[in-house]
Amino acid sequence: MKVVTVVAPVNIAVIKYWGKRDEELILPINDSISGTLSTDHMCAKTTIQASPLFQENRFWLNGKPQDFDNPRLNNCLKEVKRRAKPSCPILNWKLSICSENNFPTAAGLASSAAGYACLVSALAQLYEIDGDISSIARRGSGSACRSVYGGWVQWVKGESPTGEDSLAVQLAPASHWPEMRVIILVVSNETKKYSSTSGMKTSVETSQLLPYRAKEIVPKQVERMKRAIADKDFEAFARITMEDSNSFHAMCLDTFPPCVYMNDISHAIVDVVHTYNQLKSSNKVSYTFDAGPNACLYLLESEVEEFLSVINYVFPPRSGSIQDEYIKGSKVKQLPIQEELSRKFEFKVHKEGALKYIIYTKLGDGPKVLTDEKDHLLTQEGIPK
Ligand code: DP6
Repeated sequence: MKVVTVVAPVNIAVIKYWGKRDEELILPINDSISGTLSTDHMCAKTTIQASPLFQENRFWLNGKPQDFDNPRLNNCLKEVKRRAKPSCPILNWKLSICSENNFPTAAGLASSAAGYACLVSALAQLYEIDGDISSIARRGSGSACRSVYGGWVQWVKGESPTGEDSLAVQLAPASHWPEMRVIILVVSNETKKYSSTSGMKTSVETSQLLPYRAKEIVPKQVERMKRAIADKDFEAFARITMEDSNSFHAMCLDTFPPCVYMNDISHAIVDVVHTYNQLKSSNKVSYTFDAGPNACLYLLESEVEEFLSVINYVFPPRSGSIQDEYIKGSKVKQLPIQEELSRKFEFKVHKEGALKYIIYTKLGDGPKVLTDEKDHLLTQEGIPK
């Protein structure tokens, strides 16, 4: 019997991937860039056990049994086995796989990215394969290839029709920009209306903006973003991040029928960020939205307390809610909003509970192998604990 447990991070793109040039190989039509979040607060965890005694392959996700006959899972497994040494003794053993996320799945919070990065890292460990595994994680979910590395990561779209050059590269580790922080405003934790996979397929088929974005906008923004990260130029970073999120959602609306991911609360958050930045006369906070209504804010540590005082004022928690449950993640001092700011934001105050909760976190490293027996999600018999 052999068992491996891995935790893998979520990543949040600042230049979005949207649209495939090859559906089967998951090859994108443009490069993308993301920050990998710390696994301290949000992560996927996967245990894989291989045994000559198992009769069949089994898979559980968040406690529920899943069909193992899933093409993306099997593409990843096939590719890892292809790269394993032929002498690997466990190649023919059956597997038990148990995976969990500690945040809402399919709510636009990049759960498939962390999940497939975790699965592929665990498989790579189990079958002892070396080298870059991002191109394997990509076969599970495109954005998963970026969660294979920590810090700032670029998914280079590649040119080859067979996809071997479509992989993730680390631009800088998390330690390069230690002041960078991330606040996620969870607007809804319900499953999204249309998955990224089907939404982007419809965009490729119908959006006239999409080819323009891929050819004319993204390549320039990728170069600007790489420079902003290398120079730790927050003003530029924030501007490009917000521009790309807006360009991505414009393309979603240009899709027919449109993919509407942001809701009224999402737009209210955009408005609060711009008002705040105007008051500060520079871009102190930036937002980005994936295929869902939740906002992901990138900002520097020096801005966190004051900006959260504004968020708490504009989006008051439901009365009686416990502060630690409303703001999850790293500890942060709660400041009352300054009088001058409250006057400026007075007209924007929303009803209690418009935000479900907030996660305060930062960037972190790539997947980690956990070696303590108690970390395994499966019993000796290969059943979830
Ligand atoms: C909006 O990676 O979930 O989060 O490759 O079909 O699995 P598939 O799609 P997925 O799409 C992510 C889209 C996005 C933008 C991004 O993360 O770059």
